[in-house]
Amino acid sequence: MVKIVSVINLKGGVAKTTTTVQLAECLTSEFGKKVLVIDLDPQTNATIALIGEDKWEEIDSQGQTLFHLFNDKLKNTSTFDVKKALQGGVSNLRLKSLSLLASSIKFIDIQDRISDISKETEHVISPMEVLKTSISSEFSSFDYVLVDCPPNLGFITKNGIEISDYYFIPSIPDNLSTYGIPQIVKNIHDFSEKRSLKIQCLGLLVTKYSSTSNAHRRGIETLPARFGNIFRELKITPATIFETHIPQANATAEAMDYESFPATFKEKYGRTKSGDRYLYEYVIDLAKEFMKRVAA
Ligand SMILES: Nc1ncnc2c1ncn2[C@@H]1O[C@H](COP(=O)(O)OP(=O)(O)OP(=O)(O)O)[C@@H](O)[C@H]1O
Ligand SMILES: [Mg+2]
Repeated sequence: MVKIVSVINLKGGVAKTTTTVQLAECLTSEFGKKVLVIDLDPQTNATIALIGEDKWEEIDSQGQTLFHLFNDKLKNTSTFDVKKALQGGVSNLRLKSLSLLASSIKFIDIQDRISDISKETEHVISPMEVLKTSISSEFSSFDYVLVDCPPNLGFITKNGIEISDYYFIPSIPDNLSTYGIPQIVKNIHDFSEKRSLKIQCLGLLVTKYSSTSNAHRRGIETLPARFGNIFRELKITPATIFETHIPQANATAEAMDYESFPATFKEKYGRTKSGDRYLYEYVIDLAKEFMKRVAA
């Protein structure tokens, strides 16, 4: 059974996209899974990391990015064809079992009008259910669908929540970065209750962890209790912090550059070490823990 997991945080720059791409590549290349990445973010970062700018331009000009799906609903057109839009064999690792539904920066121009979809379709399609009604029939051939969400809980992210079995929250472990997390959990919980959704929290993933930072070390110590309290107060099944912490690794941005041509996953994420381990070792740990949590 395919498992659909959204990667969500209101805060920008906490490694949602990096984690989505690394995890997808790892599940595919190291564990033989079939994975679909859905790039829901108008910033289009996961798309550029997985297919590069030239391919993105080509498919966007052919109407095969998710912008066109939402734009179709606003304009009563039918440009987007999910079968054509699904890009197979993506990533500069040329991973046969990794697919992508791409985003487009043109999304920025319509993101504030997505609520009009209800009116434009005479209430046939809810602005939160565009993905659910248009593309979820394509998911069954995958083991995992990972949804990279923009840094907000607006209509686009709500489309991800509507189709998801789980979500997880990547966060840098300092006080300011974790400040808004109770609101995220509460907002998603209220939304899913109101709409009878199945989505559950898979946990919080510590990212960009610097073991030499006092703020990060203090954060790591206090996070488990603070995170657990959120669920206790809402009286819902608690989620926990992932045991794997992804370290601050300056080679990360470089590794995400589509124009480099690594031969293997381990080469791509093994150019330098963080502490005494390569980045790929942390990502493999994360993938194992992710699969265990999703199966539990
Ligand atoms: N482990 C890491 N170590 C160092 N830098 C990292 C790490 N993970 C991500 N980064 C860098 O941090 C920046 C933000 O990462 P990313 O784009 O994945 O965050 P995001 O949460 O998706 O941001 P946004 O909210 O804008 O979508 C990027 O420049 C990325 O290369
Ligand atoms: Mg992002």
